[in-house]
Amino acid sequence: MLGNFTFHNPTKLYFGKGALANLAAELKPYHTVQLIYGGGSVKKNGVYDAVTKILKDCGKTVVEDGGVMPNPTTEKLYEGVDIARKHHVDLLLAVGGGSVCDYAKAVSVSVFCNEDPWDKYYLRFEEPDCKILPVGCVLTMVGTGSEMNGGAVITNHAQKLKIGHVFGSEAMPKFTVLDPTFTYSVPMRQMVAGIYDAFNHICEQYFSGTDDNVSDYLAEALMRSLVVNSRVAVKDHTDYEARSNIMWAATWALNTLIAQGKTTDWEVHMLGQAVGAYTDATHGMTLSAVSLPYYRHILPYGVAKFKRFAVEVWGVKPEGGDREIAEKGLAALEKWMDELGVAKNLTALGVTPDMIEGIADATLIKNGGYKTLTRAEIVEILKESL
Ligand code: NZQ
Ligand code: ZN
Repeated sequence: MLGNFTFHNPTKLYFGKGALANLAAELKPYHTVQLIYGGGSVKKNGVYDAVTKILKDCGKTVVEDGGVMPNPTTEKLYEGVDIARKHHVDLLLAVGGGSVCDYAKAVSVSVFCNEDPWDKYYLRFEEPDCKILPVGCVLTMVGTGSEMNGGAVITNHAQKLKIGHVFGSEAMPKFTVLDPTFTYSVPMRQMVAGIYDAFNHICEQYFSGTDDNVSDYLAEALMRSLVVNSRVAVKDHTDYEARSNIMWAATWALNTLIAQGKTTDWEVHMLGQAVGAYTDATHGMTLSAVSLPYYRHILPYGVAKFKRFAVEVWGVKPEGGDREIAEKGLAALEKWMDELGVAKNLTALGVTPDMIEGIADATLIKNGGYKTLTRAEIVEILKESL
């Protein structure tokens, strides 16, 4: 049965070639803009120049905040908060991938917060009780869904923890520019990691519950679209139709729509984030490396859904036993992962056997999936993923 819910996603999206032209109108209410970006890709592909020209033409005071690293850290978060406070910033403009968008949101809820944001939001999971600075995004890398959600993942290397807080609608971007051509310069390895990330977001919301839920039909359509378009994009990364479909599907994969009224899993992400805390590896790859051992482990507890996944997403013929059909779905998933070239083991990401216990300790155990894992099962899955 579809559970009760309140759905409120306030992010305004501008999609398509040339969509950046809408930035000028969005900037109107603001005076001082903190221009947030990563390690320099936006300077190479021209997006930085295009954005700064609009900021200049609109007469905005611009405060630079570059160098946001993939998997943004607590140290960088504190730095961003200091910049915003010092310059009395009134808009945080994130130009980059999920890391840059996530970081902007983490700064937005921390500028007027009197406590340590890591302790408050990431260790105690409290909600903001202060003013939240508005965030705008210009997305350059597809996968996380950060452009239209309240998620902000931060890594604390000293504590060996990578934790996501999903903030409410107040902290979601006020607007996001989605121009698929801005993603053409993303390296192939990052592109496929992003595609797998988006696909796994759908899996996390799909592999949970036993009821016939509209979200699951939407999820299947999004997964099929990602598979079809990814096969085109790996051959021609400048195929506009494929890249735009992937961008749009990834946004819908994690803007909370397909989680409404149903339970969700998220254990692959908990495993992946713990791996990330130990290795700083690319997020999508941490997910792909643990997915197959995890899904094969929980399949016996959710055979009906894995069978549906096989038939509806991968076109497996519904012939033979349920378990057999369900397993064919995971085999098809594995074949697609090979086509993409995503990591299928943790060793490739720098995990060594001596890290397993620590990674297991850093893995949060969720209870929305088909099997609530024990710590021993987490260790077993991590070992199988090596
Ligand atoms: O730093 P720059 O130089 O910009 O390079 C980045 C980075 O090296 C590069 N890149 C981005 N756009 C590019 C480009 N290179 C060339 N051309 C472009 N157009 O790609 C690399 C990865 O970027 P990053 O932003 O780190 O990737 P992604 O979008 O995958 O974001 C990962 C972060 O998002 C979190 C992850 O945990 C991780 O910290 N997530 C956020 C979520 C959310 N908000 O809901 C959910 C996800 O599950 C995820 O956990
Ligand atoms: Zn993810």
